[in-house]
Amino acid sequence: MRMSDPDFIVVGAGVAGLRAAIGLAHSGARVLVVTKEALAESNTHYAQGGIAVAIGGQEDVALHLRDTIDAGDGLVHRDAARVLVEEGPRRVEELLRWGTAFDHENGRLMLTREGAHSRNRILHAHGDATGAEIARSLLRHARAVENIELREWTTTIDLDIEDGEVLGVTLLDPHGHVRLARARAVLLASGGAGQVYSDTTNPAVATGDGIAMAWRAGAEIAGMEFYQFHPTALSLPGAPRFLLSEALRGEGAWLRNAQGDRFMERSHPLQELAPRDVVARAITREGTGPDGAPLPVYLDMRHVTAIDPATRFPGISKFLAAHGLDLRRDLIPVRPAAHYLMGGIRTDVNGRTSLPRLFAAGEAACTGVHGANRLASNSLLEGLVFGARAADAMIGADYNAPPSPSRTPGPEPASSPSASAAVLRHELSRIMWEKAGLLRDAEGLRAARQELAAMSIPDIRDRPTLELRNLHIAGQLIVASALAREESRGAHYRNDFPHRDDARFARHSIVAKGRDVSFRDF
Ligand code: SIN
Repeated sequence: MRMSDPDFIVVGAGVAGLRAAIGLAHSGARVLVVTKEALAESNTHYAQGGIAVAIGGQEDVALHLRDTIDAGDGLVHRDAARVLVEEGPRRVEELLRWGTAFDHENGRLMLTREGAHSRNRILHAHGDATGAEIARSLLRHARAVENIELREWTTTIDLDIEDGEVLGVTLLDPHGHVRLARARAVLLASGGAGQVYSDTTNPAVATGDGIAMAWRAGAEIAGMEFYQFHPTALSLPGAPRFLLSEALRGEGAWLRNAQGDRFMERSHPLQELAPRDVVARAITREGTGPDGAPLPVYLDMRHVTAIDPATRFPGISKFLAAHGLDLRRDLIPVRPAAHYLMGGIRTDVNGRTSLPRLFAAGEAACTGVHGANRLASNSLLEGLVFGARAADAMIGADYNAPPSPSRTPGPEPASSPSASAAVLRHELSRIMWEKAGLLRDAEGLRAARQELAAMSIPDIRDRPTLELRNLHIAGQLIVASALAREESRGAHYRNDFPHRDDARFARHSIVAKGRDVSFRDF
């Protein structure tokens, strides 16, 4: 079915977008889901380790809450975290009913562990393909619902705003035509912005589109200084920064420096299972020689005999085999890479943004649930829980006037592809990695601010240039927020302010178009 006038528009087809679309459609509404690539191409699809969920009853819920709050380093929004851990089990049971094939052993769900979790509570599927399995089952469910249209290869250009209200979106269809789609409300569930950094575990589609378009429309954006760097991405010349799941360390893998020492023993009581930001910084320190030259750091699984890595981690093992490496035999070279954005479009726990008729969920949103540092495997759960809540809020909202029908601005001819977009994107991601990455200081951040401001983004409506424009905004918001937070907390580490400063900064950074970064409670 092709919908011209849906009730609701969902931008993004990862776990948050699909779960929201299903919730909206179950209420009888007509839902248009747009995604700029094939449906399978989202961050969700690449999530390996699993989904954290407290399925062991009340005690486990309380512990999950405590672990989430501890990992977030003093900045977790407690109401949001409580919603996450309390509603998580219900959402996962729903997934099981919809056919998600989590791994079982002797008839029981298998549970693994990752960094900063006080117990095993992470479900996984096909060993290391949890995100792909959840996406598959949600997609199958969404396809079976008649009133959902899943529209692929359709890029969202911007929000359509009238008198401060969001009335729809402008879309670039696969033929290069610009279309307007209107609805009662829009949900941005378009994921993170890993591509803002040269080294990332994220797929090429993670270009901060929802965040940038919400910012252009005037919405408040929060917590952009908090980018999580996954400690263990593969570090082989010429190979992609392939994610080597934290579940490898959960199953006993160690980290070793160039001398073969297990350096995490002296870095944190939880050793290899310390919070991600701690492990990522320790790897960066061990991986930098006195002259600044890179030194190798390795993941070592050779001593682990309780599991067969090839069976437990089939996807990772296959990828490594293609590069001549074997978890059972080899030290695997690793280094951190940008992985997950804790910040995003500021929302309440029901996905409401600061703009009427605009909602956000998943990585594109910032409920404050992760604070300054996300607990491993909380992101798929976040997408499910807050996607479902956003759908309920969208259905229940009071829309004072029905949207006027969609109109098409007329076939705007496809503009000729921008040759410079790829060059500028490369340059932007290099600046961000070098000057606004894992370890920051005012000098580097100011230089990044200046270099980004000097970049001239062509005004062309093709997908590469639209993505570049969005990355450029995401990069500038990260730099501005990182400069403003003159302390170190969670994933944000300032060499020039190495300590946490609760007196000044135990609050969230908020930025909006035409407004400087300020700090306040949610
Ligand atoms: C991983 O498998 O290490 C990634 C899981 C996550 O990002 O939480």
